[in-house]
Amino acid sequence: MCGIVGAVAKRNVVPILLQGLQRLEYRGYDSAGLVVVNQAKLERARSTGRVVELTQRSAAITGHLGIAHTRWATHGVPSERNAHPHMSDELIAVVHNGIIENYEELRTDLTAQGYVFTSDTDTEVIAHLVHSFYKKGASLLHATQSSLAKLIGAYAIGVVAANNPEQLICARKGSPLLLGIGENENFIASDMSALLAVTKNVVYLEEGDVAEIGIDTYRVFDAQGKAVQRQMHVSELTNDSVELGEYRHYMLKEIYEQPQALANTLEAVCNSQSLVPGIFGAEAAASFSQIDSILILACGTSHNSGLVARNWLEEIAGIPCNVEIASEYRYRVSVANPKTLVVTISQSGETADTLAALNHAKANGHQHTLAICNVPESAIIRQSKLRFLTRAGPEIGVASTKAFTTQLAGLFLLTLVLAKLRGKLTSKQEQQHLHDLRHLPSAVQAVLNLDTSISKLAEKFANKHHALFLGRGLHYPIALEGALKLKEISYIHAEAYPAGELKHGPLALVDKDMPVIAVAPNDTLLEKLKSNLQEVRARGGELFVFADANTRMQSSDGVSVMQMPEHAGFLSPILHTIPLQLLAYYVALQKGTDVDKPRNLAKSVTVE
Ligand code: F6R
Repeated sequence: MCGIVGAVAKRNVVPILLQGLQRLEYRGYDSAGLVVVNQAKLERARSTGRVVELTQRSAAITGHLGIAHTRWATHGVPSERNAHPHMSDELIAVVHNGIIENYEELRTDLTAQGYVFTSDTDTEVIAHLVHSFYKKGASLLHATQSSLAKLIGAYAIGVVAANNPEQLICARKGSPLLLGIGENENFIASDMSALLAVTKNVVYLEEGDVAEIGIDTYRVFDAQGKAVQRQMHVSELTNDSVELGEYRHYMLKEIYEQPQALANTLEAVCNSQSLVPGIFGAEAAASFSQIDSILILACGTSHNSGLVARNWLEEIAGIPCNVEIASEYRYRVSVANPKTLVVTISQSGETADTLAALNHAKANGHQHTLAICNVPESAIIRQSKLRFLTRAGPEIGVASTKAFTTQLAGLFLLTLVLAKLRGKLTSKQEQQHLHDLRHLPSAVQAVLNLDTSISKLAEKFANKHHALFLGRGLHYPIALEGALKLKEISYIHAEAYPAGELKHGPLALVDKDMPVIAVAPNDTLLEKLKSNLQEVRARGGELFVFADANTRMQSSDGVSVMQMPEHAGFLSPILHTIPLQLLAYYVALQKGTDVDKPRNLAKSVTVE
């Protein structure tokens, strides 16, 4: 989704803005732009190409104050005229993430006042609104605050004025924004990775905050306009963690980072002799003792991890669990049970639908909330009572990989902790699970060794237009995740079914042009799955089976069997995810698509 960078400094800020935008490219965008203040004038460059094209277009621009933006179109097609920054009367310039819901009404009012709109965006109303207050003598801060009072919707904004060469105003509500504090220079960004080259000191703005930033000062005001102190943190992000290094794509890098990401996520637990609720927050023990069911809310890949967890939670902890797509739950009239623990799962912690679902649950009377999330200080973390941070490190590739497997690790820990509290786990079982968790990173590493074989397998998909993924039980959500990965980055239409559903409809699709990928762990459903695969083979469908060792399945005509190194019991879904990630990656390479930035998609979906 859209990205924001802004800077005020004693040096030329254009290289800082461009480098920041480059760092934000992973979020997905279709146009980019920047504006700087130079000798009481706004100088703007915009482009519908990549940031590198914007760099060429801004070669002649310099200034000590500026704001920049990558846009992911919502209102108005991707085009130069719709790219940010938007300006009013060559005096005010604005960048904006989010959606202004009442922009049509505001546009009508502003048009009646004589403002001429030059774009189809909702953002342009903010520029004209700020202008309307500023030209009447309000300070830039007050003009922005008065404008924000008229907006309905979500925003993170940066505002500059041509005649105010050392002041940057910014605000957030519903979209992330942070301040980067440097020495004699200060910055704003929607994501810390944009600022790593210039500072590690970060101040996270809270909902409704407005900030006024100068070269060596900054002031933050809350939604009521009261001056407030917001704590400064030192970011733990490193340049290396957001660099590509030796890898061709971030997605491949992140697939390969999974052993380390899992080790980091499990560190506290694996170094201890027993499981304690405290890993989910100080109030976890009290909350967990009051609950009788779980409701998981998430989107996309994070929703798939919730579907795996439902199986664990019901089988191991014996606690009823529902999993709902956040964008559906938020608008559904549902019956709330105050004894339910609401678990939101999100890599970014800023997904608009998941955040809205969390707030909807709270408004419905749910008090027990837990966030499983990869980004500390994200909105979902801050708005939940309990939290578990996956320590996957920054995920740049749009297709989620290491975030998914570390979410699964967190959800497995939740299952074990609840099972223990509910008397469903003997101490021997607890020790066995801890042993399996300690072994998990090396088990994942062993699966990564299948890389070359999977890249060869992928060649068979180069000319396919459709694919079917099958799994059963714990592994049906892994089939869903495999299909999601393939469609996202290779644009092959892929669907997943519980294998037992095949003969209830989808079998009609099976012929020699429909590859069928089966997730076949050595579990209690294996024999049933084998029968389902016979049904496919009998219709001429080509099978690609990811089987565990000891499944006694062999490759034969039309059947390619890939042997996984071992069977990991309850943790098997984590291992079986890895080959499907690699398959999607190598098929996308065959197809020549933009692996890290697939068309139409964005990394962090901060709008509805
Ligand atoms: C798929 C993918 C998306 C996200 C979804 C939720 O590869 O990345 O489906 O999982 O947009 O995002 P988060 O987890 O940030 O809430």
